[in-house]
Amino acid sequence: MKLITLQSKNTTYQIGITDTGFLLHLYYGVRINCDMSGTIAYYERGMSGVPYDLRGDNTFSCDVLPQEYPCFGNGDYRSPAFCLRTEEGVYGSDLRYREHHIKKGKYQIPGLPAAYGGEDSVTCEIVLEDSNTKVIVILRYGVFYEEDVMTRSVEVRNSGDMPVFLNKVLTSTLDFVTGEYELIHFHGRHMMERILEKRPVLHSKQCIESRRGTSSHQQNPFVILAEKGTRENEGLCYGMSLVYSGNFLVEAEMDQFDQVRFQMGLSPEMLDYKLEAGDRFHAPEALMSCTTRGFTGLSHTFHNFIRRHICRGKYKDIPRPVLINNWEATYFDFTGEKIIQIAGQAAELGIEMLVLDDGWFGERNSDTAGLGDWYANHKKLGCTLGELSERIHQTGLKFGLWIEPEMVNEDSSLYRMHPDWVFKIPGKMPVLGRNQLVLDFSRKEVVDYIFENISRIIDSADIEYIKMDMNRSISDVYSAVSKRQNYGSIMYHYVLGVYDFLERMVQRYPGLLIEGCSSGGGRFDTGMLYYTPQIWCSDNTDAVERVWIQEGTSYGYPISAVSSHVSAVPNHQTGRSVNLYTRGIVAMAGNLGYELDLTILTKEEKEMVKTQIRDYKKYWHLIHKGDYYRVDSPLKGGEYGAWSFVAKDKSEALLSVVCIQARANRPVYYAKCPGLDLDKLYYCVQTDTAYSGAALKYVGVPVPILNEEYYALQYFFWSLENKEEFEV
Ligand code: GLA
Repeated sequence: MKLITLQSKNTTYQIGITDTGFLLHLYYGVRINCDMSGTIAYYERGMSGVPYDLRGDNTFSCDVLPQEYPCFGNGDYRSPAFCLRTEEGVYGSDLRYREHHIKKGKYQIPGLPAAYGGEDSVTCEIVLEDSNTKVIVILRYGVFYEEDVMTRSVEVRNSGDMPVFLNKVLTSTLDFVTGEYELIHFHGRHMMERILEKRPVLHSKQCIESRRGTSSHQQNPFVILAEKGTRENEGLCYGMSLVYSGNFLVEAEMDQFDQVRFQMGLSPEMLDYKLEAGDRFHAPEALMSCTTRGFTGLSHTFHNFIRRHICRGKYKDIPRPVLINNWEATYFDFTGEKIIQIAGQAAELGIEMLVLDDGWFGERNSDTAGLGDWYANHKKLGCTLGELSERIHQTGLKFGLWIEPEMVNEDSSLYRMHPDWVFKIPGKMPVLGRNQLVLDFSRKEVVDYIFENISRIIDSADIEYIKMDMNRSISDVYSAVSKRQNYGSIMYHYVLGVYDFLERMVQRYPGLLIEGCSSGGGRFDTGMLYYTPQIWCSDNTDAVERVWIQEGTSYGYPISAVSSHVSAVPNHQTGRSVNLYTRGIVAMAGNLGYELDLTILTKEEKEMVKTQIRDYKKYWHLIHKGDYYRVDSPLKGGEYGAWSFVAKDKSEALLSVVCIQARANRPVYYAKCPGLDLDKLYYCVQTDTAYSGAALKYVGVPVPILNEEYYALQYFFWSLENKEEFEV
């Protein structure tokens, strides 16, 4: 058997090529330096499918052997990654190895986001062919040596003379011949996104998927497959993240011989993608990593990788402005004067940018009208957008704006002008979501029109930030111009249209900070992070529930990707009242912002806001560039949520603790702070005590018992070896 071995610093990926051209998945795990082909068990499996050219040898069946890229029709009856249909309606292919190449540098994918860079990155391309249809499948692997990340993507080329139809093209498959695994995924709903759930992988296919057109609030395209017993700090686990913002599928299945298949990619739901002779199709990229350092190790890998090789632009590595957003302060009910008032107050407190949210354009005074009409409502603002921006800049603040480019209200000039630009099935009444319809972004002229109009707005004023929202799940997928009304392929082209829009924004406005949003965190994925280095994490701004949401998010995404705001109490989503200090501590675990009417805060509250911003800036390097640790999770039913940030050089750490439940005469809670040098001493100014890294890791700091609901504490530790004292 010929081998392809891909090595990163701590992991190895190995593929075997059999004499008859089958690709067997030999290994993915901790780094090894050997040939793993001896681990393949060829046993007589008389009742399993055998390839015709191997007839007589019942020890070779694709149904039993670990496949690198399982295809439908070659005798593997487990769930395939690849399935095509010919024009006559014939399903079934037999992909065999033709050649492979290893090149320096990382491949890119036309029209789709993909990890970039890495001085030492390598691309491996394996070319497979189905000799019957002449369809070529190119498996691409990107190896990021230092980061221990392998990326995968798939290109399908039709080199035959007849069209074929792609029904399933997943991106990454991992077949494990042995081991007991658990699937960990992040489910949720609007205002409660990314809650961890764990389940054993048993003898049936388990699917995690989105059919909503976005990656969704309900499921997330970051998943973990962990060896049974894996814990936060130890154990073997595999992470997969799809660099894609639309419908996706994850499958985990244990087969008849207790082997596990774990795969991810574009959703095959109603996919029937016509690939004309000579055409190419690109499946989105998946990021994969594995570690024996448990979930913390996996999170650190994904955090570092996304920060370095996915996020781009001016704000990739620098502090983003602390902002005030007017949404929860005013909703649609504001005037230009009110906005200036909020900006003036914000400037006094040290806030750096005002974001004007929904309601500034067209006849948008409620969510029933105006979407699609991208011109400023001068009557409501009392001036032009340029003038408003100027007045905001005069207060010392930058200016940001909310947009929702993919949507339209029926009550809008755009819809009256172009009723055929929306997804709507002829003869069927459409499904509405938040009173709006979805523009057909699979059409270039629609994207062009919206891009031109939004650009005109950005050019008309000094705008430093855009919040790009998307507030409904997609339905009634029908394109007025597409020859084939195929749900799956239109949805794919829709997402490509969104990426096209975003790429044009990024290219035309390199200094612009774009924040992603989809009714909060309904499109929180690695695909969006390629264009928008931060995403509004949830419409739920309740500090207590945010602890859960931000914790779930942290498994697959860096803290620098999270936008988090301090809002008013009682909280608008839960009715809960949490003190301002705690709200600040929670919002600091992300990109800090405010979303309340600052003009009605008390003097003491204003002082506290100033202190929060000062602290956030002081700790920014730790929060955004340090290693994040989930210290204690309220999801485990405990009374405290705690997390910490540790400097890469282990010289400093910041530990935050939030008490979730008030209890009488409670036991002392010890908040641990792992990740520091065990033998070094660290001074904590809040307790005026020095602790060793070992004491902080193994025992923790005793947290005071306060007779108060939802109190929070923050502890900053710095190494006593540091010559320069940290100013507190
Ligand atoms: C969505 C966003 C909110 C806000 C509103 C405006 O729900 O998540 O933050 O921008 O839209 O309509």
